[in-house]
Amino acid sequence: NWTTGNILDEQVDRIREQIGDAQVICGLSGGVDSAVAAALVQRAVGDQLTCVFVNHGLLREGEAEQVELDFVASTGAKLYVANEQDRFLNALSGVSDPETKRKIIGREFIRAFEEAERAIMAEAASEGEEIKFLVQGTLYPDVVESGGGEGAANIKSHHNVGGLPEDLRFELVEPLRALFKDEVRAVGAQLGLPAEIVGRQPFPGPGLGIRIVGEITGERLELLRKADAIARAELTAAGLDNEVWQMPVVLLADVRSVGVMGDGRTYGHPIVLRPVSSEDAMTADWSRLPYDLLARISNRITNEVDGVNRVVLDVTSKPPGTIEWE
Ligand code: XMP
Repeated sequence: NWTTGNILDEQVDRIREQIGDAQVICGLSGGVDSAVAAALVQRAVGDQLTCVFVNHGLLREGEAEQVELDFVASTGAKLYVANEQDRFLNALSGVSDPETKRKIIGREFIRAFEEAERAIMAEAASEGEEIKFLVQGTLYPDVVESGGGEGAANIKSHHNVGGLPEDLRFELVEPLRALFKDEVRAVGAQLGLPAEIVGRQPFPGPGLGIRIVGEITGERLELLRKADAIARAELTAAGLDNEVWQMPVVLLADVRSVGVMGDGRTYGHPIVLRPVSSEDAMTADWSRLPYDLLARISNRITNEVDGVNRVVLDVTSKPPGTIEWE
């Protein structure tokens, strides 16, 4: 008979037992799992834990602040931030192909994380300590899925971009291994993590990078971030966060269409809204959002986001469409 309270106490005891007085690091992605795993380990061993946040510049509005300010304030965790926005933009410059984008983002992420790791290790070494453990936010369904043979592991592999390769230098600490997503959220809430982190909908590791159809630039990211923030705010205000599994907001950077604003002609980009309902992201249906909500989102985006003069709704199920556009 598991309650959130005793899951928490039991995990904290186990983590203490595993880690002893060694040092441990944990990568934060901005997502629920890594945040809850880190918060649990922090509760268990305090400042023996150093969290690492590689900011790749592909997060949505407010998400880096959620990690750097809200996560830290609510847990007291020690955080190392690597601001790598320029590195990712440079590496992605001129690239439009989705799989190439994923590979570059995955590769740069690992490099940036390893650099951060080395800096933290050098610091620890100077104090005569050694980092022995790495925290991972593996959930029970991940454990089952990757036990299901090579095929299953391969299909899933692209979903772990933004995570880390198995790092043999470290022993793994996986405090969420026995939990399902809703239990993870409950434990996170119990640990005092903010609702924005605990309730966050799934978001891909490569982030907004795979929601710009075309080349990624700083300007386009800025534009998409604004449109996405408006769409999310209106969805939340309509009380529909729980009805919708995710709502990718996509910038068609390679497409332009003619519009009119005041007395003038515009020639801007379309934004696609892709709200879906789903159980597990393997299949999905497009969400029948209320027309007045769609109208509000459309009006606000075309009025408030320079360079966007059209908002379109994706009404494709999965299959044949995928949830993301890239
Ligand atoms: P698709 O687009 O394949 O998405 O229908 C299914 C789920 O996976 C997420 N997704 C990703 N997550 N790295 C990730 O971490 C990725 O490269 C990636 N591609 C898709 C997507 O947001 C949805 O939840």
